[in-house]
Amino acid sequence: SITVDPDRAGPEIDDAMYGIFYEDINRAADGGLYAELVQNRSFEYDTADHASYTPLTSWTETTTGGATGTARVVNDAARLGEKNRNYLRLDLRGDGGGAGAGYGVTNAGYNTGIAVQAGKTYDFSVWARTDNPSGTPLTIGLHTASGATALASPLRATVRGDHWTKYTGTLTARATDTTGRLAVTAGGGGTVRLDMASLFPRDTYKGHPNGLRKDLAEKIAALKPGFLRFPGGCLVNTGSHRAYEAPDWERKRSYQWKDTVGPVEERPTNANPWGYNQSYGLGYYEYFQFAEDIGATPLPVVPALVTGCGQNKATDDPELLKRHIQDTLDLIEFANGPVTSTWGRKRAQMGHPKPFGLNRLEVGNEENLPDAFFERFTEFREAIEAKHPEITVISNSGPDDSGVTFDRAWELNRAAKVKMVDEHYYNSPQWFLENNKRYDSYDRQGPKVFLGEYASQDNRFGNSLAEAAYMTGLERNADVVRMASYAPLLANKDYVQWRPDLIWYDNAAAWGSTSYETQKLFMNNVGDQVVPSEASATPSLPSGPITGAVGLSTWATSVAYDDVQVTSADGATLLGDDFSGGDGKWTKATGTGSWQVRDGAYVQSDTGAENTMVTAGDRGWQNYDLNLKATKRA
Ligand code: AHR
Repeated sequence: SITVDPDRAGPEIDDAMYGIFYEDINRAADGGLYAELVQNRSFEYDTADHASYTPLTSWTETTTGGATGTARVVNDAARLGEKNRNYLRLDLRGDGGGAGAGYGVTNAGYNTGIAVQAGKTYDFSVWARTDNPSGTPLTIGLHTASGATALASPLRATVRGDHWTKYTGTLTARATDTTGRLAVTAGGGGTVRLDMASLFPRDTYKGHPNGLRKDLAEKIAALKPGFLRFPGGCLVNTGSHRAYEAPDWERKRSYQWKDTVGPVEERPTNANPWGYNQSYGLGYYEYFQFAEDIGATPLPVVPALVTGCGQNKATDDPELLKRHIQDTLDLIEFANGPVTSTWGRKRAQMGHPKPFGLNRLEVGNEENLPDAFFERFTEFREAIEAKHPEITVISNSGPDDSGVTFDRAWELNRAAKVKMVDEHYYNSPQWFLENNKRYDSYDRQGPKVFLGEYASQDNRFGNSLAEAAYMTGLERNADVVRMASYAPLLANKDYVQWRPDLIWYDNAAAWGSTSYETQKLFMNNVGDQVVPSEASATPSLPSGPITGAVGLSTWATSVAYDDVQVTSADGATLLGDDFSGGDGKWTKATGTGSWQVRDGAYVQSDTGAENTMVTAGDRGWQNYDLNLKATKRA
C-alpha cells in the first residue's frame, strides 16, 4: 500500500531533471547518429586511430569495362584543405571500352553495408579536380555487396578543371537492401583527385542537411530528454590538449569544439580514444541543433586539461590553459552571442542566427587528480562567471570508485561553494537497490548533484527495474539531485567498446534496451514537485516447504523485513536473519535490514562459506526445501 501525504511539500523537480548523455563511443557518431553512409569519406583513416586502419579502409579498387589505373591516397600540396589533408589520387590509363568504362573505388559503408530503402532519395557529393583538359566523366553507382544487383540508376557527372569543386547529385533506391556498396569510377585518362565522397539519405531527422539518422534521432527524441550532455565522457579529456597544428598534428587530441564547426570539408578528423576515427561531421553546431530539435537543454563538457579516464595526467602549461579558457568563452559566444559577435556570426553563417540558449556547462570529466583538477577548474570557473554569471558551471567529483579522491574532490567543491558537481558510477543492480537512500543524507546546503553517468551493469530486465527503483531515490532527493543521465546512450552492435547501453542499432534498425523504457517512463512523466509518500507491502508468505521461486519478491521495492528466518522443511533453523547469496539468488542488504529474494533456493551463509547452514558437511551447492518466515518492518 502507498500512503501519500499531499499536505507536506516535497522538493521541486527540475524540468531538466532527466536527460541524456551522448558520447561518441561504440560508433555513436560516424556509423551511428550521423547520417553519413560512406565510411572514411575523406581518406583520413590512419593506424594511429586503429592498428588495422589504412587510408583506404572501407574502400576497394573497382574497374568497369576493363579500365585500369592506380588508386593511392596522398597528402601533398594539392590537398583539399589544411585540416583535410589526405585525398584519393586516381591515375587513369584511359583504357577499357564501352560506355561507362572506368576505374575507381567502392565503399562498403558500416556493418553489412549501405542500407537503402526502395523509393528513397540519397544525396551524393564529392569534391574533385582533374588535369584532363577535356574533363573526367564520373559514374556513381549503388549496388548490392555481391555486385549482382544495381540498387539505383547510376549518376553521372563530369569533373572539369584542376581546382577543387564540389559535385552533387541524387540516387533513388529501386530496392530495399542493407548490403549496399557505393562505386565511384572515372573514365578517360589523366589524373583525377577526389575527396569527401559522401552519401546521405535525403530524409534526415528534421530534414537538416549534414543531418542525423532519422530512426535513431526519433528514438532519442521519444525519450523527451530534459538535457543533452555531450560530447563525452573520456572522449573529452583523453589525449593531448594541443590545438590542431598542421602538418605535425597530434592525432589523439582531446575533443576541442573549434575543430568541429564550419564547412564539413574544412573540419579535421581525429583519433577517437575509443579506438576509431571520428570525422567531426557531427560537431558542436549539430549537437546544439539536435538539442533544440528535441527540446533538451544543451550541456557541453569541455576539457579541463587534466586527463582522467585512467591516464591521470595534469597538463602544466599556463598558455595552453589560457587558450582553453578562451575557447570556452568563445563557445558560449558561439552558442549565445549576437550575430554581430565573432562566434555568433559563425553560428549564423552555419544557419542558426538565433542563440541556442546555453545556460549550463561542465568543465572536465572524471578527474582522478582532484587537487590538480580543482586548480584548473577554478580558473575556468572564475573566467566564465565573471563574463557570464547566467551560466551554471558544473564541476566534477571523479568516478565514485576511488574513495579518497572522490571524497577529496567533494571537499574541494564544497569548500569553494561550487553550484553543481557531476558524479559517475556503474554498479551492479544489487548496488542500485541497496543504495536507494544514497542522497537522503547529502548536505542540503552543499553543491547540487548532477548524476551525469550511471547504469547498472547489464542490459537485462532486472537492470532496468533496479534503475527504476534507484530513480525513485533520485527523485525523492530532487532538491539535491538536480539532473541525472544514464550512460552511455548509443551502441552500434558491431562496434562495441562499452556495455550496457541505452539504444542499440546496426546500419538499418534501432532498438531500445529495457533501460531505455525505464528512462522513457521517467522522462515522459517528470513531475513538478515530490509528494511525500511511503510504500509498504505485506509479504505473501509461502506456507509449507518451498522450492524454486519464493513468494517474497520485494527486491524491486526494497521493503524492509525483520526476523527473517529460513528453515529447513522439518523446521530446523538453517539461518537467522542474516544471510546473503553469493550467486545473487538470495541476498540480504547489509546494514539496512532489508533483504531480497529472487528465484531459486540455493542458500549461502553470510560468511560466504558455502553450505555452512546445512547440516551435512561440504556437499557443494544443493537445492533444499525451505520454509521462509518474515515480519514486515514496522
Ligand atoms: O560512459 C562511458 C565512459 O564511462 C565515459 O566516457 C566516462 O566518463 C566513464 O568512465
